[in-house]
Amino acid sequence: MAIPSVQTRQDGRATHNSSVQTRLDPTSPATQVPVVEMRDLTMQWGAKPVLDNVSLSMQPGERIAVVGPSGAGKSTVLRLLAGLQVPTDGELRLFGELQDYLRLDQRRPPDVRLVFQNPALLASLTVEENVGFLLMRLGRLKPAQIKERVQQCLEAVGLNDVADKYPGQLSGGMQKRVSFARALIDDPDREEGAMPLLLYDEPTAGLDPVASTRIEDLIVKTTTVARGCSVVVSHVHSTIERSAERIVMLYGGRFQWDGTVDEYRATDNPYVVQFRTGNLRGPMQPSDQ
Ligand SMILES: Nc1ncnc2c1ncn2[C@@H]1O[C@H](COP(=O)(O)OP(=O)(O)O)[C@@H](O)[C@H]1O
Ligand SMILES: [Mg+2]
Repeated sequence: MAIPSVQTRQDGRATHNSSVQTRLDPTSPATQVPVVEMRDLTMQWGAKPVLDNVSLSMQPGERIAVVGPSGAGKSTVLRLLAGLQVPTDGELRLFGELQDYLRLDQRRPPDVRLVFQNPALLASLTVEENVGFLLMRLGRLKPAQIKERVQQCLEAVGLNDVADKYPGQLSGGMQKRVSFARALIDDPDREEGAMPLLLYDEPTAGLDPVASTRIEDLIVKTTTVARGCSVVVSHVHSTIERSAERIVMLYGGRFQWDGTVDEYRATDNPYVVQFRTGNLRGPMQPSDQ
């Protein structure tokens, strides 16, 4: 098997092209298979690629935010990770496995859970049925076992006494929590020690600041409870800084900058500075998109 090359980020700067490639010893205990590995990945529909030959590596336990203006390709990154699309060119590996089929066509799909911008709950099912939907479909657990697991997930997101309610009877914020609980549900066949990859697309769009804070903390909690990694796509500053540890800036088809939250606050990288300050002047201009 090929040894995965891991990109280091010693200077916290762009991973693209300027990154340092290190070959690690696979027998060393420090070596872990990256959860996500994009290598020279391109995603293209029209004349101009949305993702242009990008590389990114994500280690177990990491919480990343992908930021950038509208149309930069953030949702495309999530759709690739969710297996709703396959790259036009280059490689995507998840948990070391090459992703060259759509998720629906995979026999042993990786554990990747997408939390949609809208809760996308099924209106005709109760909260319990919505959260336990996958387990009921799989049919490998008894109803009482499913009920117990659902209850644990609802408790983890701070919901009590809603299992028998229908989504329409809940507030928007509570519905959002239910969608997080659904992302927490474990497949009983999941290997011991497996770590899911959780994806959140604009989780706080349209929420007031306090509701946003609750959701941001929930992202951290959900990721921790599921013992997984997360990729959050957002352009809300509090969400970026509160829910992630590492930030990747996407613009013009490239990852222009990559670093920790502290580095993000301090860097003088022109893309980050413009994004952080909302300045009209800077390298990001509407005509570029
Ligand atoms: N299925 C598709 N077919 C054609 N173009 C697409 C498709 N999905 C996304 N795009 C284009 O890719 C670009 C990036 O879209 P998206 O990833 O949704 O950006 P973001 O989430 O950063 O706003 C946009 O110009 C969009 O029109
Ligand atoms: Mg989007």
